[in-house]
Amino acid sequence: AKTLWIDTDTGSDDAVALVIAFKQPGIEIAGISVVAGNCSLEKALQNCLYTREICDAEHVPVYAGLAVPLIRGPFHAENVHGIDGMGDIGLPLSGRVPDEGHAIDKMIEAVLARPGEITLVTLGPLTNIAVALAREPAFAKAVKHCVIMGGIGDGPGNVTPASEFNIYADPDAARMVFQSGMPIVMCGWEISCRHAVVEPSDTDELKRIGGKLGAFCVDIQRCLVEFSTKISGLPGIDLPDPITMAIAIDPSIVTKSSEAYVEVVNGEGPALGQTIVDRKLHAGKPVNATVVDTASREKFMAMLTASVSGSPA
Ligand code: BDR
Ligand code: CA
Repeated sequence: AKTLWIDTDTGSDDAVALVIAFKQPGIEIAGISVVAGNCSLEKALQNCLYTREICDAEHVPVYAGLAVPLIRGPFHAENVHGIDGMGDIGLPLSGRVPDEGHAIDKMIEAVLARPGEITLVTLGPLTNIAVALAREPAFAKAVKHCVIMGGIGDGPGNVTPASEFNIYADPDAARMVFQSGMPIVMCGWEISCRHAVVEPSDTDELKRIGGKLGAFCVDIQRCLVEFSTKISGLPGIDLPDPITMAIAIDPSIVTKSSEAYVEVVNGEGPALGQTIVDRKLHAGKPVNATVVDTASREKFMAMLTASVSGSPA
């Protein structure tokens, strides 16, 4: 069995990543910390709690984390995930109550209780993780792996030409995380555009075999479809958080990776939020991340399909 701690700014693709984690066999989720990002903390919490409910996973605790980035003002992505973060399809996203306690306290407690055992999977801006690192010096060494959906390994960004949303939204936190010494696996946005695009024929199939859960995963992407097809020019929806989750659960989905020094730009200017991936170690700095270069779409789709249909991959 593999134990995960998930940090999420639950928007429409985070929700699919959560479905995968809840439904894959042999996965224990020690807890979920929620952070502001795709939408406000309050909305992200409601989205996470709703997803937990429809997956019958109420035994997994969900905690509220930080509502604003470390230094900068809030930055959301309503144009990508909708005003409610879940595609504005009219889901009843209110009134659910998170578990008691602060996400950062709970995450530190869980990780330190089981040193070297918990894989941290981050699907949003890295604010909660940066504060945990600052609060508890033993945190970085106690985490088994930190699998990050964030940054760009190769190609253009989705917020600016240089930057990806999760890093851009809190570049100060991201810089701290990459410099923390945690064993990091970075899954950049381009991985989802190249290896995790779900096309209309796939979404039909997901709905057909996945019933209510399949329809949920597809329908909440209503706003993302617009963004991914019109702005990113993809043949369907890219699913960055789901492929990151799939890789955290089954690392053999990665078909090529590089050991690199990743530096996050947090200074003002056109490169704000950029992840500079130094594969050749030009800067003479030690490797701080394994960067995913390519992944198996086939294996990813198999895991996604199995998760919604209830038959393990
Ligand atoms: C990331 O930002 C959000 O839009 C997604 O949930 C994902 O975590 C992609 O850049
Ligand atoms: Ca996310």
